[in-house]
Amino acid sequence: MKINFTINGIERECNVNSTTRLLDLIRDDLNLTGTKEGCGKGECGACTVIMNDKIVASCLVLAYEADGADIVTIEGLSNKEILHPIQEAYIEAGAVQCGFCTPGFILTTKKLLDEIPNPTEEEIKRGLSGNICRCTGYQKIIDAVRLSVIKIAEYKRGEKVEIK
Ligand code: FES
Ligand code: FES
Repeated sequence: MKINFTINGIERECNVNSTTRLLDLIRDDLNLTGTKEGCGKGECGACTVIMNDKIVASCLVLAYEADGADIVTIEGLSNKEILHPIQEAYIEAGAVQCGFCTPGFILTTKKLLDEIPNPTEEEIKRGLSGNICRCTGYQKIIDAVRLSVIKIAEYKRGEKVEIK
């Protein structure tokens, strides 16, 4: 079946069958390989994307459900060569080791900070509870979210380039 949707601000039309997962559409058909497959059953958060302003595990969404949707993947977060402040924060805080989980964590962090601009540690832990990292031990990820708050405030004060 034919579906139409917007991904990272670009309108797309794709043919999918009834069992194609959104994750496969994103990775295999659109070649947006920043979205990762870990568990494939909704437990690890590696496949996280933002769909219609909600965090979703793209391994659990069928592609045809994206008909008419607005989707953001990790590739849509940066402004061409300029990283999003959350991406900068993850790098500067040392919250990235193998990097497999990182796109999912960053998109989840974006949604968390869109909803709670200055979260407490408890709110950060709760907000990221759907994402698993087997490398970092999580403390540096929490530090990265805190640093993201500072960096986003800098960007909004006009001290850096415009962000999405
Ligand atoms: S691959 Fe989708 S939640 Fe793990
Ligand atoms: S950095 Fe390796 S799984 Fe998180």
